[in-house]
Amino acid sequence: MRVLVTGGAGYIGSHTVLQLLAAGHEAVIADDFSNAKPSVVGRLEELAGQAIPTHRVDLTDRAATAALFDAEPVDSVIHFAGFKAVGESVAQPLSYYENNLDSTYSVLRAMGSHGVHRFVFSSSATVYGDNPIRERTEDMPTTATNPYGWTKVMIEQTLRDLAASDPSWRIAVLRYFNPVGAHPSGRIGEDPSGFPNNLMPFVAQVAVGRRERLSVFGDDYDTPDGTGVRDYIHVEDLAAGHVAALDRLAQIDDGWSAWNLGSGQGVSVLELVDAFARASGREIPYEVAPRRPGDAPAYWADPRKANAELNWRTTKTLDDMCADSWRWQSANPQGYPD
Ligand code: WQD
Repeated sequence: MRVLVTGGAGYIGSHTVLQLLAAGHEAVIADDFSNAKPSVVGRLEELAGQAIPTHRVDLTDRAATAALFDAEPVDSVIHFAGFKAVGESVAQPLSYYENNLDSTYSVLRAMGSHGVHRFVFSSSATVYGDNPIRERTEDMPTTATNPYGWTKVMIEQTLRDLAASDPSWRIAVLRYFNPVGAHPSGRIGEDPSGFPNNLMPFVAQVAVGRRERLSVFGDDYDTPDGTGVRDYIHVEDLAAGHVAALDRLAQIDDGWSAWNLGSGQGVSVLELVDAFARASGREIPYEVAPRRPGDAPAYWADPRKANAELNWRTTKTLDDMCADSWRWQSANPQGYPD
């Protein structure tokens, strides 16, 4: 299939582009480069051994998005484009609602007017909110505790209603747990702009000497070692889940389906720090800091629906995640060049 990958120069988008190409699909990248560097595309082409059509486009611009579909006939869309920092969304809610919702509506409108109805949406485990049941299943109610999460909940609902209104749509909603790691080549990886909000990139920057020490946000949670527990998933496994979901959409009649993409295993902050120290051979100095507002003590995926229906499961271990993250970070201490 010829797939438009919005946000295709981003962390998960770039890894997914490589796996699409490796699976025999064609990929077209659309990105506004607000949270990705243009140099990523050159590295993707080097790794893929082929040119990758790439368009710098503001997907909130309806006319520009329609022109993109005019220029690039595609069979399906994987939609990663969107702002994704929880804290930033609290500070700038209107920017988040405007960008994430408008860009999605713009893409869906252009798809409809170009007869394209296969859509894979980058959602997040954040839609489970602060459910006290730690193992998340797809039938749980969705809610949010921040504007970023609400954009995911609202887009998921939009997609449900769209599929219910028009049987030509085939929509896959993929709820990511905690994506980490990097392509084994070390040529592409996670490159957060500014201060890293997420654990793994922060730990990697401590290991490579960019940050002095890690703040562990609380060690008094109801978890085995008191620190937060999450379901970390290697970005390569996550990317493979997107290819599997795209293939699944060609086989089913359901208009809207949701799948958890996670390992099913919970890992604590300190377990990840220890694994990263082993993988990198570096000490990871840390201090215990107050809990971060909004953090849940612990949650992880029940991945059985995706395992069965997508014939997909995670294959990489925590040690793989840390080794690949370290290979990327140590080879690119300052991230991607501009
Ligand atoms: C993981 C654990 C922290 C940083 C968020 C979003 C989610 C998704 C993934 C987009 C927690 C602890 C973290 C640090 C720490 N993003 N931590 N020190 O919060 O589970 O999920 O990112 O889709 O939607 O909510 O990920 O990596 O920020 O935190 O102790 O410097 O690490 O308390 O227990 P999180 P995270």
